[in-house]
Amino acid sequence: MSRKQLTIGLFGFGCVGQGLYDVLRHTRGLQADIRKICVKHKDKKRSLPAEYFTFQADELLHDSEINVIVELIDDADAAYHIVKEALLRGKAVVSANKKMIAEHLPELLEIQQQTGLPFLYEAAACASIPVIRNLEEYYDNDLLTSIQGIVNGSTNYILTAMQEGTLSYDEALAKAQSLGFAESNPFLDVSGQDARNKLVLLAAHAFGTLISPEDVFFCGIDKISTADIAYAKEKGYSIRLVAQAIKQGEKLELWVLPQFLNSNHQLALVKDEYNGVLVEGVFSDKQFFSGKGAGSHPTASAVLSDISALSYGYRYEYKKTAQAGKPEYAQPEKLNLYVRFPANLDSADLPFEVVDEVYRSRSLCYVSGVADIKALIEEGWLNNPDVFIAQLPEPAPAQLLRDNLVLTEALAFES
Ligand SMILES: NC(=O)c1ccc[n+]([C@@H]2O[C@H](COP(=O)([O-])OP(=O)(O)OC[C@H]3O[C@@H](n4cnc5c(N)ncnc54)[C@H](OP(=O)(O)O)[C@@H]3O)[C@@H](O)[C@H]2O)c1
Repeated sequence: MSRKQLTIGLFGFGCVGQGLYDVLRHTRGLQADIRKICVKHKDKKRSLPAEYFTFQADELLHDSEINVIVELIDDADAAYHIVKEALLRGKAVVSANKKMIAEHLPELLEIQQQTGLPFLYEAAACASIPVIRNLEEYYDNDLLTSIQGIVNGSTNYILTAMQEGTLSYDEALAKAQSLGFAESNPFLDVSGQDARNKLVLLAAHAFGTLISPEDVFFCGIDKISTADIAYAKEKGYSIRLVAQAIKQGEKLELWVLPQFLNSNHQLALVKDEYNGVLVEGVFSDKQFFSGKGAGSHPTASAVLSDISALSYGYRYEYKKTAQAGKPEYAQPEKLNLYVRFPANLDSADLPFEVVDEVYRSRSLCYVSGVADIKALIEEGWLNNPDVFIAQLPEPAPAQLLRDNLVLTEALAFES
């Protein structure tokens, strides 16, 4: 198949934009040239001569020789207008802007159908890991049952550094920013919103279910303390921010939470800015993808792969969105949680249906067990700045059996 000549209009020349420029220079066999780069700040020092740049979006969008727009800016609203305009003007588009895509996916899908133009965004979920293309092509049947992943490089970097005792939360966040892993607004990372946006994209490609990011239950790591890290150490857990989508019959449950993982869990082995995704299917069982989830060149390599795919006419088909009987989004009802609360609160006020453990000391108060998610949200526990919520592993069947035996023996003794 002969490959198309691509003339690129590039938006953004920050961490990923500059990475793409480098990566393209080292790539042979691809006929793709950057014609012009649109950036925002006129007084910023650039590593390329001034004639490469413009500050006028229309210079790229109205240039009929440009057949591909690559959008790598950090402003989701501006990105939405650029991407929409580019598609409507007949240009193929590549983007890495997960916030913008998650917020506008149904409309962007419609525009792709109307125009027949490709819109690719592999870098928007798990940066260098080719997870979207795999979900689209390899897992294009209806047999997937779950996706569970570490999808945010900055929070994984912070959690690894805190757990290994090398950096405090603030130091690790500052380092993630200086290394180019964090969003320009790092609250998107630590609050869990970035992971939630990526989960929305993964769910669309894995299950065909389109979900508004606002509907997804999520908590981040912004309220984590050294006491929570000490708890993890004491229990032999690793802590990671995990996004998951689980098909339960006709329902698709989605949530993002910090999770305490047993040390032999595959995601516990994913460290620093790496991401990891566990995909489970009815017959394939578990498959695991891992790779760098942030950073200039790793992210640019996914953008490059999309550009390369455009050269042979590739586009997403979103096959599963058209499938009959695709699962409906549902919020999880009950989860096995650890909730750390301040000493002036009563653990009995928390909406736990089963309590496995209540602990109170001067430095740490927590309760663990099965919590009612709807009540947790409606009673405002997620907004309490002193409450940290994380998911716990399901108790092993042997543990449940032991607990039941102890309970039965105790009841027999009482009667
Ligand atoms: N960094 C990562 O590891 C990573 C990983 C995956 C996905 N992403 C996504 O990739 C995108 C870019 O991230 P980044 O880390 O490269 O951001 P960045 O380093 O902050 O760079 C942002 C670039 O966007 C330009 N820009 C902002 N608003 C603009 C506008 N309205 N018109 C034209 N240019 C504009 C800026 O111009 P100036 O140079 O003039 O300031 C800058 O060059 C984001 O959507 C991010 O979520 C990043």
